[in-house]
Amino acid sequence: MKELAHINKYFKRYKWHLLGGTLFVVISNLFAIFPAQVIRYAIDFVQDTIAVYPAFDAEGLSEGYISILTRAVFLFAGLVIGLSIVKGFFLYLMRQTIIVMSRLIEYDLKNEVFDKYQRLHMAFYKRNNTGDLMNRISEDVSRVRMYIGPAIMYTINLIVLFVMVIFTMVSVNPTLTLYVLTPLPILSVLIYWVSREINQRSEVVQEKLSDLSSFVQEAFSGIRVIKAYNRLGEREHEFTEQCNTYKESNLDLVRINALFLPAMILLIGVSTILTIYIGGKLTLEGKISAGNIAEFVIYVNMLTWPVASVGWVTSLVQRAAASQKRINEFLTAEEDIINPSSAPGHIKGKIAFKDVTFDYPDSGVRALNRVSFEVQPGESLAIIGHTGSGKSTIANLICRLYDTSSGTVFIDDEDIKSINLDTFRSSIGYVPQEVFLFSDSINNNIAFSTSISNDDSNAVVKAAEDAQVKHNIEDFPKGFNTRVGERGITLSGGQKQRISIARAIIKEPKVLIFDDCLSAVDTETEEHILRNLKDLMDGKTTVIISHRVSSVKHCDKIIVLEDGQIIEEGKHQELLEKQGVYFDIHEQQQLETMQSED
Ligand SMILES: Nc1ncnc2c1ncn2[C@@H]1O[C@H](COP(=O)(O)OP(=O)(O)O)[C@@H](O)[C@H]1O
Ligand SMILES: [Mg+2]
Repeated sequence: MKELAHINKYFKRYKWHLLGGTLFVVISNLFAIFPAQVIRYAIDFVQDTIAVYPAFDAEGLSEGYISILTRAVFLFAGLVIGLSIVKGFFLYLMRQTIIVMSRLIEYDLKNEVFDKYQRLHMAFYKRNNTGDLMNRISEDVSRVRMYIGPAIMYTINLIVLFVMVIFTMVSVNPTLTLYVLTPLPILSVLIYWVSREINQRSEVVQEKLSDLSSFVQEAFSGIRVIKAYNRLGEREHEFTEQCNTYKESNLDLVRINALFLPAMILLIGVSTILTIYIGGKLTLEGKISAGNIAEFVIYVNMLTWPVASVGWVTSLVQRAAASQKRINEFLTAEEDIINPSSAPGHIKGKIAFKDVTFDYPDSGVRALNRVSFEVQPGESLAIIGHTGSGKSTIANLICRLYDTSSGTVFIDDEDIKSINLDTFRSSIGYVPQEVFLFSDSINNNIAFSTSISNDDSNAVVKAAEDAQVKHNIEDFPKGFNTRVGERGITLSGGQKQRISIARAIIKEPKVLIFDDCLSAVDTETEEHILRNLKDLMDGKTTVIISHRVSSVKHCDKIIVLEDGQIIEEGKHQELLEKQGVYFDIHEQQQLETMQSED
């Protein structure tokens, strides 16, 4: 239960909804009790009046007598209807306040969760799978909402109704009250058991369903491989099996669901029979009136649903607490990368690493070992090395996606940990090694980091041109409005990379980082792009990461990385003269180009 304390701050925020809702529950319950009393009054009235009928009949006044009686009965009926309408109106208001509050809190909570997600450390995303994270924001938050809305509403309703109804019942006859109420706790326990069973079984159903959809999704994404390897039959067989387990778990759920209503009706029936039997005896003894029996039958029916809901609400709250626990787990997770300042600043673009060592937090892999270098504002730095040598890690550290294990990264001679992360990140154009395009138009993908969103705006076209991808885009039927991603067209690896480059250069950042972003384009296009970038890079600090000499040879400074360490550094010509690792890479790549040209 203490997990749910997290929600309390939201109750405070929406206290007027909660208070109003409680008030409406009280009022609607009052108007639910009045009709029962009117009915008791009506029955007693009719009974008493009928008792004196012979006297009127003897006097020859039967006609007037009947018309008065009819009018009275209609009046009572009208009253009952009127009171019920008022009750309905307040019930409506109750839902309009409490259920609305639950939706508002759900909205806030989802935003809180999403906001936290965005600020969490990269390592967090390595540890948790996407499906799990999605579940927390959708499933778990919905379950917590069930606690905020229905559970609280029914609890308030139950308390209010109980106090009012039981007070009224006891004032009529305590013995009858006792008999009538005995079956209700049994009902409550039974419903608790049944709804817990239902919840457990629906969880299994959900699990099977999600297995099934992952299976189908994978079958679709991997359809090429499946067809090529001729595994259609096996897949079909597996699918049938998955469907079967899903069906079985659903039937399991149906079986217990079918018990719910009959069990409830049975216990209401027992209560009603007890009311009539014991009440009848008491009436014969003259302790209560016939009207009281009718009144009690109505009370019993009024109490049944709230009592049944005790069981239901208990299991709702348990589920909500479990869900909130899962949500709290990462709401309280440490944010390692904290923005130290919100002061507006200006980045000149000097980058320096001093004795930087970095181990990946989740795997403990030492990716960089005492790396030091310096790039002046406007200079270009190249990092070259084999796969796994730590090149991308340097880019990650410059963007402060991670903090160093030891040593310091300096930006404009200041520790990166002390500068405003927002300003800094908005001055960086970073092209990651793994291109990611959103399921959106090409235009919006390029304009992603800016506020430009007009179709075919000049800046987007210019950026696309500089990245050598404009002619490709214009070949698509919808040009810049072509959608990419899941429901859009499929781009080649090189096209994606160039769109990603356009995204980075459009905002004219102070620092440009290209992480192996030309690996999927041919050497000729690479030349073109690099030539265009040369103008763009003017006055900007540029870091070009590559495993190809051709991409890096024009840079002001080249670093050769191996196993997380800098083994050589200098200009292209100097490094060639050294005849070391750089020279070897150069020779080998020259050979490859010559061979491919043959
Ligand atoms: N997110 C990560 N978690 C754990 N280890 C990683 C992660 N990313 C990279 N590594 C490891 O760090 C080392 C350097 O990787 P990386 O910087 O990506 O090399 P490069 O970009 O030069 O290919 C490799 O051994 C790699 O396996
Ligand atoms: Mg890399």
